[in-house]
Amino acid sequence: MSDSRRELSEPIASADQAASRGTGAAALPDKTLPRALRGMLALDDFEAPARRYIPRPIFGYVSGGAETNASLRGNRAAFDDLAFVPRALVNVRARTQKTALFGRTYDAPFGLAPMGGTAMAAYQGDLVLARAAAEANIPMILSGASLTPLERVREEGPSAWFQAYLPGETGPITALVERVARAGYDTLVLTVDVPVMANRENNVRSGYHTPLRPTLRLAWDGITRPRWLFGMFARTLLLHGMPHFENWGPRVPLLSRKGERQRGLRDQLSWSHVELMRRLWTGRLVLKGILDKNDAKIARESGADGIIVSNHGGRQLDGAVAPLRVLPGIVSQAGGMTVMMDSGIRRGTDVLKALALGAHFVFVGRPFLYAAAIAGEAGVRHAIKLLRDEIDRDMALLGITTLAEMRRERLMDARNFNGFGRGGRSP
Ligand SMILES: Cc1cc2nc3c(=O)[nH]c(=O)nc-3n(C[C@H](O)[C@H](O)[C@H](O)COP(=O)(O)O)c2cc1C
Repeated sequence: MSDSRRELSEPIASADQAASRGTGAAALPDKTLPRALRGMLALDDFEAPARRYIPRPIFGYVSGGAETNASLRGNRAAFDDLAFVPRALVNVRARTQKTALFGRTYDAPFGLAPMGGTAMAAYQGDLVLARAAAEANIPMILSGASLTPLERVREEGPSAWFQAYLPGETGPITALVERVARAGYDTLVLTVDVPVMANRENNVRSGYHTPLRPTLRLAWDGITRPRWLFGMFARTLLLHGMPHFENWGPRVPLLSRKGERQRGLRDQLSWSHVELMRRLWTGRLVLKGILDKNDAKIARESGADGIIVSNHGGRQLDGAVAPLRVLPGIVSQAGGMTVMMDSGIRRGTDVLKALALGAHFVFVGRPFLYAAAIAGEAGVRHAIKLLRDEIDRDMALLGITTLAEMRRERLMDARNFNGFGRGGRSP
């Protein structure tokens, strides 16, 4: 772990604040929660009801990966390969998970990853996610492929960052950077793992296309999900009109017979454009989608303030390594630059494993969108609370009071146990 990581994670909450919290014991289902949320005890629980709520092609777009889903599976397997070595009899009463990041203190070491098209799965999806994140004092990253004007999201969710998809062209880069700055964002994330569209065969098979094509098949998919059809789609059309892709190139409606999103010369995007962005953008600049330690080094040299180690949740290059596996190598090359991570995080224990391997902060994608779809803002608030509570409980069980104590010595390689103790076995 770098020194900067340790500094960033120093305890901030007072012992009194921490003491006002409960014992961290798992509670019975909370009767004050909306009925739809009572059975939601972990982030994975949101998936099945979301599958029943969201039309098949849209659910497939959200849940799926690329080609064989190898990276999607690999992201989870990486966490399972690590085991904890907890310490006993530590007074953990004053534990805190507050985390300082880019000059701001967040209430948890995780945020909401950028997801395009959230407003076609969840009513007012971008706003719901942004509001719930701001209320919980954690960051939400608004996707460049979103259906809500970025200005509105930042207004309603002041902890929002903005994520851009950009072509390797000066004009669009300059225009977007200026727009994002005018809207008051302080952190701009450039996603760098999408030079071309991924090969998501599941989308083709299920009839998903962006923008959505008004076909009989899509109509049937909608009719067979009446709660979505009336509670989300018809409600959106009646109250707000047809949603448009608002934050990337010319506006395109969500539902269109012929319209295409203009992706521009994305395959020409290169480090010189990152340097251009660095000159234009005075806020924090983050690159998302780094998996190679050499790229981490170039990112730092190009002026990035941080990177998100990510394989896009297994949605881009199928077979791309799980971010957790390359995290330690990348941290070693980061030279103090902030290293964050996403892809496959579902549990407090996953968050803590990533932090132990040197991440400053992590992001979670799909489960928060499922939560927004089935129960709106209350759903996202509940999902955030579940993950926070898990982290709090896990910290106590591990015998730590600050996240800075989450170091590599707390882990061992669960696969290569050979009965000869831990020496040389940690990853
Ligand atoms: C429906 C969906 C849409 C996404 N859209 C974007 C996007 O617009 N920009 C981006 O950088 N990443 C996008 N991602 C990737 C996420 O930001 C994140 O890397 C990934 O979801 C993390 O993995 P997880 O879902 O396993 O937590 C998307 C992911 C999903 C599930």
